[in-house]
Amino acid sequence: MNDYDDCWLRYDRADADRLDSYRRLCRHAYVAEKSPELSAVRDELRRAIPSLLGDDPHLWQHPPSTAGGFLAIGTPDDMRMVADSVSVDEVGSLTDGGFLLRTVEWEGQRCVVVTAPTDRGLVYGTFHLLRLMSVGDPIDDLDVREEPAYANRLIDHWDTPFHRSVERGYGGESIFDWERLPDLRERYEDYARLLASVGINGVVLNNVNTEKPPRPSASEAFDAFEGWQLLESQRLEAMTGLVSVFRRYGIRTYLSVNFASPMLVGGLDTADPLDDEVREWWRRKADEVYDLIPDFGGFLVKADSEGQPGPYDYDRDHVDGANAIAAALEPHDGRLWWRAFVYGSHEDRAVQAYDTFEPLDGEFADNVTVQVKNGPIDFQPREPVSTLFGAMPETDLGLEFQITGEYTGQGVHATYHLPMWEEVFEFDTHADGAGTPVKSLFRGDGEGVVGVGSVGEDHTWTGHYLMQSNLYAFGRAVWNPDRSVEKITEEWVRQTFGSDEAVVDTVSEILRDSWEACIDYETGGLGLMHMMYNGEALLENHYDPSPGEWPGYHGVTEDGVGVDRTSAGSGYAPQYRDPVAERYESVETCPEELLLFFHHLPWEHELSDGTTVAQRLYDNLFAGVEETERLRDLWGTLEGRVDERRYRHVAERFDEQVAQAERWRDTLAAYFYEHSGVPDERGRVPSE
Ligand code: GCU
Repeated sequence: MNDYDDCWLRYDRADADRLDSYRRLCRHAYVAEKSPELSAVRDELRRAIPSLLGDDPHLWQHPPSTAGGFLAIGTPDDMRMVADSVSVDEVGSLTDGGFLLRTVEWEGQRCVVVTAPTDRGLVYGTFHLLRLMSVGDPIDDLDVREEPAYANRLIDHWDTPFHRSVERGYGGESIFDWERLPDLRERYEDYARLLASVGINGVVLNNVNTEKPPRPSASEAFDAFEGWQLLESQRLEAMTGLVSVFRRYGIRTYLSVNFASPMLVGGLDTADPLDDEVREWWRRKADEVYDLIPDFGGFLVKADSEGQPGPYDYDRDHVDGANAIAAALEPHDGRLWWRAFVYGSHEDRAVQAYDTFEPLDGEFADNVTVQVKNGPIDFQPREPVSTLFGAMPETDLGLEFQITGEYTGQGVHATYHLPMWEEVFEFDTHADGAGTPVKSLFRGDGEGVVGVGSVGEDHTWTGHYLMQSNLYAFGRAVWNPDRSVEKITEEWVRQTFGSDEAVVDTVSEILRDSWEACIDYETGGLGLMHMMYNGEALLENHYDPSPGEWPGYHGVTEDGVGVDRTSAGSGYAPQYRDPVAERYESVETCPEELLLFFHHLPWEHELSDGTTVAQRLYDNLFAGVEETERLRDLWGTLEGRVDERRYRHVAERFDEQVAQAERWRDTLAAYFYEHSGVPDERGRVPSE
């Protein structure tokens, strides 16, 4: 037994009314045998079938003739039985990762066929079938065709070698034990299984911060940023075993690298991207990496941001910087992910990324992907979507979400991100006329969606049993952003907690309502944000309220609240295409939930229902706490229906969440009152 949770891969015994049919179709399995991925498939069946069906699987190297029915997993090229049972052309038309699940009649036997054009697709197809059985769906008449929406579905680890901290990670230290490599841990494989089961096909193993930034306020914790060392030859060699663990599950490996690696690793005296020696160094380093890891995914770079070096150090721009490294990866089909999370001279940071990158559209090399956070600030509970989406048609773009809850309760609060991601995906950018939602972008071969990871060494993986849902939901939503929040959530709950309908309904409701509650108590709503503690201690950072620290982000003054980001203000709103820009530009048409992100308004400004801004903020803060209490009580109704270990863990976290929500409410309400002088008409906010 491992000392960590199985998450959604528990494979609890299937429902009694399905068991016969599942056994008939899946107890015997004929699986192709030729690649690491297919050996992973067999291992998964060995784990799942006994647990789901209460029977050992019979694994075959040829189609069984007397079983009465069986499961067949392979490409049409691998197995004649598969080629005979499905349309080979249809299989060939699927993109990488796509698969078919079909229930077919073959030589008098009823069979389930899992097939795909690539072995990675067979891994996904197998997990899909096991998911169907885990949630109790019928499989005797399957006609499933699945393809991933985006070619690249990546997890960015912010894990810091070698001292194993995880920046913004709340599930304990890093699962990656770099000092012990090449020794492998079983946990690596179990993590790869979790990722592959939801369709993730790439992992960046280390933090984007690869070097201690030279900022004076940096705390001791920053001393640990030495991830640049991973490019040293002996480190690369030690990594190859870990890479093959992921490879078995169709997952490619990437590394975050330091822009100044030619100096730090290579001992050169410059990292100028236009310097011949520097370019030669990157080329040789890339050759070395691909010699060891032929299917290596590529590099991720955070440059000229928060103390990390970059092309500006040499008076070069982002194109010069990115293209120099991309050129080294290009002969190997490697990709460079280049982050757009930058600061600059603007007082309003929101305008910076667009201002810096949009003019560079069309100049990046073909194997560069510019990686953009979902919003213009930094993973706040609610932000408008980034103006870069749809604004760089000649550039491959990646969308970056945060799975870990840096600003949403840090793995202590139950805050489900899927409803937020859905809001982002559905947002119509009008980039290509009406009907260009965010989810329709990132469809190129070099594009995709990236999530900042959330796992660590804890038994729960994510610091909170319910927050495993964010990792699950990320993978599933990125596989298919059209799948509804309800569907993904229910799938997760059933696989994680079983089929007791009261549990399914209650946990789904808690998750569904948790995000809005968090927005209310952490911000007061109306588009305010960034009012958290930003102190020196990295570990305590961004959890507690501290609205006075950086007033520029929320614009609280005596005369009003909010930030003017219209064309008369910082100029962020006009970066959108019309009619989006027009909608945000005017107080009348700006949606209420983002009103104070775009406008600085008097405290007594009346909203559409006649409530003043000040009063609405108070009301939302109180509503957020009441909602959190309601969610805690809902969880309380599950005592005895969920195993004691998970029940108690979540119940205790909920108590802390309610206390913390109250702290946020009281701090922000007092702060708003102190500056506005407007009393709460319901008398809840102390006015002395
Ligand atoms: C935020 C976060 C940092 C992180 C940075 C980034 O600022 O707080 O910890 O390094 O984003 O995305 O690079």
